[in-house]
Amino acid sequence: MLTTEKPNISIVKSETSKLVESDPSDLIFGKDFTDHMAICEFRNGSWGPMSIVPYGDISMNPGTSTLHYGQSVFEGMKAYKDKGGRVRLFRPTENARRINISAQRLCMPEIPEEMFMTALTELIRLDAKWVPAKEGCSLYIRPFIFADEVFLGVKPSTKYKFMIICSPASNYYKGPVRVRVERQYSRAVEGGVGYAKAAGNYAAALYPSSLAAKEGYQQLIWTDSREHKYIEEAGTMNVMFVFGDVLVTPSVENETILAGITRDSVIHLAKDLGYKVEERKISVDELVEAHKAGQLNDAFGMGTAANITIIESIGVDGIDLSLPPVEQRTVSTKIAKTLSDIKYGNIKDPYGWIEEI
Ligand code: COI
Repeated sequence: MLTTEKPNISIVKSETSKLVESDPSDLIFGKDFTDHMAICEFRNGSWGPMSIVPYGDISMNPGTSTLHYGQSVFEGMKAYKDKGGRVRLFRPTENARRINISAQRLCMPEIPEEMFMTALTELIRLDAKWVPAKEGCSLYIRPFIFADEVFLGVKPSTKYKFMIICSPASNYYKGPVRVRVERQYSRAVEGGVGYAKAAGNYAAALYPSSLAAKEGYQQLIWTDSREHKYIEEAGTMNVMFVFGDVLVTPSVENETILAGITRDSVIHLAKDLGYKVEERKISVDELVEAHKAGQLNDAFGMGTAANITIIESIGVDGIDLSLPPVEQRTVSTKIAKTLSDIKYGNIKDPYGWIEEI
């Protein structure tokens, strides 16, 4: 193994690569991992040195607190390859910022942005050949922090690990999705951890989602936990509707909704493309009324993994609201194309969102 030292980071290179040339569109999301991973330990009140090492198992004492109490947060981000083979990260500092918002809420230590960015860029440089050179495909990057103390008392851990792993991916959903409005279970509550990318948020969604899956829906549209009246998120994505020609998305100010980076990018692009965008409360009744009036012209989910995923139909209290066919979804299609062109370097990035590495 070849070990190199760069300022603030040590790198141990893998002697072999697992990379096989295959069609990246056939990849199953999150199944294959690249040759290396970044790892850093928090001990005695501070983060130690950052290392990049060959990808592999980590051993864990069964008493490690994250396994019992879920003190664990993560991020999702992507690297793209342009036609010249250059690797581009999309808004990476936003992820560095957001993991710390999540960490703070889960009573975990923040990871300094510089450490996050150094680990990220060195890891992606080392595994650059894993970034698929095909539009629609990318390298999914998963930074995460978890409690690493062996202790069963319920308290904030004194030890943590920060890691980054990467997985080549195509889109999370292979096409438009059928969703159902959830009126019984909740993803998040006011004062809770809905705005954080906490591991437990995703675990809590599994059972209600599995019930919806049995009815043929790929995702749920979560509603507020008080009245189950107002729309919050669509599964693991933020959600946007087009009423007439106005884009409307739930506002993220009440802390039950994740402030998505894709969501923010879509809002910017939509405004610059000349659309009116409203961030506000949206009731299920408003959605049904808009559909009845023939005004529900488009609906889509937004997220890093899912990108922009068109919603085909929305189940509300036993009735499926069908939306216009994909060919008529001019708004989502136009925004998705512009966003994709920026990511893959087909057009200039006027926002400073791209960091070439
Ligand atoms: C992402 O879009 O990165 C997410 O976090 C969704 C993931 C849980 C599949």
